[in-house]
Amino acid sequence: MKILILQGSPTNGHTKALCASFIESLADCHEVKQVDVAKKNIHGCLGCDMCKQTPNVCVQQDDMIGLLQKISGAECLVFASPIYFAGITSQLKAVLDRCHCLEKDRMQNKKTVLLFTSGSVDETVIAPALAMFDKLQEHFHWTMLGLVHGPGVHRASDVLNVSVLAKAQALGQSL
Ligand SMILES: Cc1cc2nc3c(=O)[nH]c(=O)nc-3n(C[C@H](O)[C@H](O)[C@H](O)COP(=O)(O)O)c2cc1C
Repeated sequence: MKILILQGSPTNGHTKALCASFIESLADCHEVKQVDVAKKNIHGCLGCDMCKQTPNVCVQQDDMIGLLQKISGAECLVFASPIYFAGITSQLKAVLDRCHCLEKDRMQNKKTVLLFTSGSVDETVIAPALAMFDKLQEHFHWTMLGLVHGPGVHRASDVLNVSVLAKAQALGQSL
């Protein structure tokens, strides 16, 4: 399966570590790519709708050009993000918004995985982000393969619970 990991944290911290646990357990048969979207030059959608005249083409000439190809070709999209102000990072949200230019069939029927980290230990902290992905899944007929949330990692020196990392590994193995 072609798996594309859209890693939304601007740091090399807990979210990236969670991705690493997930990736290390994936079978060799998968084709895996990870893009650290916050390290890319990706602007927000301008809402100009020029892409409705020329589908799959965005007027903005930034790093989203290459990423649109990868997203179109992926069978499984992994969305990885720390919780920022009750949602996903603005960098990852910008990637989603920019998918507006893709024809629906390029976004439809994907498998998805969600990997979240948060400072809060409260499991409900991911509820708004989950609600957003629930809506997208309904709209694009995505199939959610799994969700891992690593709570309680506010500082860089905090450590993700081993059971969280094990859950990410088990999810990777199950694919
Ligand atoms: C700008 C900002 C906003 C944050 N907002 C929240 C929040 O709303 N809820 C929460 O639980 N943690 C929040 N956090 C903490 C991060 O979710 C947490 O530290 C996460 O593990 C950071 O991921 P990283 O190590 O991959 O950078 C916030 C952190 C930052 C920098």
